Amino acid sequence: MIEKSFNSIFSGFSTDLAMDLGTANTLIYITEKGIVLNEPSVVAISVDDNSIEAVGLEAKKMCGRTHSRVNTIRPIKDGVIADFDVTNRMIQYFLKKVLNQYRFFKPRMVIGVPTCITQVEKKAVIDASIMAGIREVHLVEEPMAAAIGVGIPVHRPEGNMIIDIGGGTTDVAVISLSAIAYGESVRVAGDEIDESIVRYMRLQHHLNIGVFEGERAKKEIGSAFPQAGTLTTEVKGLNVKTGVPMSITISDEEIREALKEPLTTIIAVIMRALEKIPPELSSDIHSNGIYLTGGGALLRGLDKMIEEKTTLKVFIPEDPLLSIVKGAGAILDDFPNMKKVCIN
Ligand SMILES: Nc1ncnc2c1ncn2[C@@H]1O[C@H](COP(=O)(O)OP(=O)(O)OP(=O)(O)O)[C@@H](O)[C@H]1O
Ligand SMILES: [Mg+2]
Repeated sequence: MIEKSFNSIFSGFSTDLAMDLGTANTLIYITEKGIVLNEPSVVAISVDDNSIEAVGLEAKKMCGRTHSRVNTIRPIKDGVIADFDVTNRMIQYFLKKVLNQYRFFKPRMVIGVPTCITQVEKKAVIDASIMAGIREVHLVEEPMAAAIGVGIPVHRPEGNMIIDIGGGTTDVAVISLSAIAYGESVRVAGDEIDESIVRYMRLQHHLNIGVFEGERAKKEIGSAFPQAGTLTTEVKGLNVKTGVPMSITISDEEIREALKEPLTTIIAVIMRALEKIPPELSSDIHSNGIYLTGGGALLRGLDKMIEEKTTLKVFIPEDPLLSIVKGAGAILDDFPNMKKVCIN
C-alpha cells in the first residue's frame, strides 16, 4: 500500500501493465491509461547481422515484400513460442516502447499466456519481461483473462464457457471457482482459416495467393453462415500454371466453402467440451450461454453457426480482440482479490 502511493507520487503515473502476447497481435494495457499498444506480433530481422529492422505494424507491412536480406518472422506460432530469441526481443521492444513513453517505477505486469504453455516458455516470457525492466511478472491463462475481460463472474461456483478464437489457437474453456474446470486448445484458428482460403483458390481457380490476401478476403466478405445478400471481392495472385499475375472475383459463398474444414474442427472441439463436462457445469452453461472472443469471433455468422450446432445462446463482446488484455488489466486493477487466478 505504502509502496503503491510512493509509486504514484514518485512517477506521477500508474505503474502497472497487462499484456496479451498473442500469435497474431500483442496488446499492452496500463492502469488508468487503458490500452496503449496494439500491434501485430511480427518482427523483421536482417539476415546480415541479425539486427531488428522493424517490429509490429511496420514489420507486418513488410511481410511478403522484403528482399532476401530481411526476414519477417512471427515468433509465436500455433499459440506456442516457435522462436525464443525473437520472442524475447519482441517482448522487450514492445515493453521498452511503452516504458519509455510513460514513466514507471518498478512495474508489475500480468501477462496472458496460452493454456498449453510449457515451463521453458513460461521462463522465457518472464525473463524477457524482467530484462525489459518489469519487477514482478504474473501469468494468467488466456481463456481465464478473456472470461474476466467479458465480465464473467469467475469466482462464483458456477460454470461459464468461453471460446477464444485467435490467430493460432482456438481455446475452449469452462471456468468455475476462479479456475479452469475444463480446457482444450486446438491449433485451428484465424491462420488456418486464411490458409484454407489459399488452398481453395489454388485448387478451384488455379490462383496462387498469399496468406495476407487470404486474410483480407476473409475479413472483407468471409462468413460462417449465409448472410443476407451476396458479398464479393477481387482476389489477386499468380496463375499456378503460367506464373502470370491475375485476379478473380469471388463470393462469400465460395469463402464459406473454403472455411468448411477449419470450422468443422472448431465446432467439434466445442461439442466435445459440452459432452465431457460434468452435468452441473453443463446445466449452468445451458442457462448462461457461451461467450465468444478473439479475432475469430468477428467472422460473420460464426455465433449463429455455433448457436445452431449447440442450441445454446452465444454472446460476443463489443470488441472481442480486446477481451484478454482487458481481463489481464482487470486482474491488475484489483490485484489482491484477483491474483488467485494467476498460474505462477
Ligand atoms: N473481421 C474479421 N473477420 C474474421 N477474422 C478476423 C477479423 N478480424 C480479425 N480476424 C482474425 O483474428 C485473428 C487474430 O485474432 P487475435 O488477435 O485474437 O489473435 P491472437 O490473440 O494474436 O492469437 P492467439 O490467441 O491464437 O495467440 C487473425 O487470424 C485475424 O485474421
Ligand atoms: Mg489471443
